[in-house]
Amino acid sequence: MYVKFNPSALLPLGLLVGSALSSPTFSQPGHQQPLGGDDVSPAIHIHSKKPSVDAESLAGTIKTSHLLNRAKDLYAIAKISEHDFGHPTRVIGSKGHFATVEYVQRVLNSLGGYYTVKEQPFPAVSGYIYESKLVLGDKAIHGSPMSLTPPTKNKDTVFAKVVAVKGDGCDEEDYGDDVDGAIALIKRGRCPFGTKSENAGKAGAVAAVIYNNEAGGLSGTLGTPLEHHVATFGIRLDDATPILEKLAAGEEVDGSAYINSEVNIIRTKNVVAQTVLGDPENCVMLGGHSDSVEEGPGINDDGSGSLTLLEIAVQLSKFSVNNCVRFAWWSGEEEGLLGSNWYATHLSDEENRKIRLFMDYDMLASVNFAYQIYNATDAEGDPKGSEELRNFYIEGYKGLGVNFTFIPFDGRSDYVGFIEAGIPAGGIATGAEGIKTPEEVELFGGKAGEWYDPCYHQLCDDLTNLDEVAWNVNAKLVAKSVGKFAESFEGFPERVLDSDEVKAERAANAKRWKYRGNKLVM
Ligand SMILES: *[C@@H]1O[C@H](CO)[C@@H](O)[C@H](O)[C@H]1NC(C)=O
Ligand SMILES: *[C@@H]1O[C@H](CO)[C@@H](O)[C@H](O)[C@H]1NC(C)=O
Ligand SMILES: [Zn+2]
Repeated sequence: MYVKFNPSALLPLGLLVGSALSSPTFSQPGHQQPLGGDDVSPAIHIHSKKPSVDAESLAGTIKTSHLLNRAKDLYAIAKISEHDFGHPTRVIGSKGHFATVEYVQRVLNSLGGYYTVKEQPFPAVSGYIYESKLVLGDKAIHGSPMSLTPPTKNKDTVFAKVVAVKGDGCDEEDYGDDVDGAIALIKRGRCPFGTKSENAGKAGAVAAVIYNNEAGGLSGTLGTPLEHHVATFGIRLDDATPILEKLAAGEEVDGSAYINSEVNIIRTKNVVAQTVLGDPENCVMLGGHSDSVEEGPGINDDGSGSLTLLEIAVQLSKFSVNNCVRFAWWSGEEEGLLGSNWYATHLSDEENRKIRLFMDYDMLASVNFAYQIYNATDAEGDPKGSEELRNFYIEGYKGLGVNFTFIPFDGRSDYVGFIEAGIPAGGIATGAEGIKTPEEVELFGGKAGEWYDPCYHQLCDDLTNLDEVAWNVNAKLVAKSVGKFAESFEGFPERVLDSDEVKAERAANAKRWKYRGNKLVM
């Protein structure tokens, strides 16, 4: 049971809380004062005074002390939510998140008009599960309600017989008449949990229980809420097996299900800043997420990435660029990559083509870190240019004298919308709740058998949850990526306007992502 959220703490968009932002205690390392008092247009002024950027010069501006000062600012911002949540957080809808967005905007707007700063509001789906209980046969089962699940009818316990669905439950035909009024027991696999819940709901099930097809518990998300979704749990395979055996032997099994949950739509926003200088037809884009989970302040996830971007945006303003540079601070990443998907799916074809590359920077300073590169490749059908970007990171880490590993490009962060829109993408990370192997300890040091980020999605993701060395190395690599592509896209494929045929083909061959953000979807 988890009762952690007070929905009355939700703020409508526009009811911004800015008090802490204008506080003089917020440090502003490396800020330039606005140019001001000048009759020359800002773009011309900026251009005439500044050296051209390149990878090395931008990487040379990275200072750990600047990054850590920003982390302190962010932690103070997360504390603004304490009154509503009882602890620091920057979850969407919280005062701490609104203040994070304002902080980013305020820093960007203090750079003498170097950036055009825009905000992109969007509706975000946000679910809360207060309480749940599942009984199959005579046994209480430890089931995990899926994220964004609707409640059971009247937020009350439903009693029904348990019916095993045929096949994998991905097709409506798998649901016989006996599913009507029953608890549908469905195998995991082949299609998203959301599809199974939808099919079960259409067939009249009062709840759906999806059992794992491998060892371990099953916690996932229904993804986008759909009209026919029913209250849905994930359970372990070994909890399902005895029930399935009884049903196969023709025995009746009764059960009960209870979920008290809410799915809310709230307004939140992305922040996007683009250099005034540089070829606006050819942009390098990079993003981190401005939100945290409800459980904690999110200083590594994704304070480390989003603050790296902010610091680099500040430092870049001392240079002129050949190509346009576009930074994004996504909202709603933790609720399922909402902001980045909203952005990518709302690009016109013409705007889409201008983005030569998207680079995702989510979690750059995990204390038990590995230097991880997303393994985006041509072989996997990732948009042409993704593999070249991956290779750039390989050379980058080699240049910085550190080891690295590849990790699956499987949907865990904000690159998904870009890949689906045909935009080359990639990125680096230092690891979340994965377990460090002994081989990785040889490569990076740290502790084998423990999470890369031991405070992942917890209250302790605070100022003590940052590895300064890893953060510095990664911030340098991010700076190199910005400096290099701001200077030139040489060696990278041109973007073209995709025909409708190409788009249809891309949709038909779309990657089946295993994750949507931090949650399993199938
Ligand atoms: C990276 O992806 C390619 C293409 O799917 C695959 O052949 C290769 O084994 C992957 N590398 C690693 C280290 O996972
Ligand atoms: C890289 O890994 C090797 C082991 O494969 C190790 O000997 C070396 O010290 C590591 N380099 C760094 C910079 O950690
Ligand atoms: Zn994250």
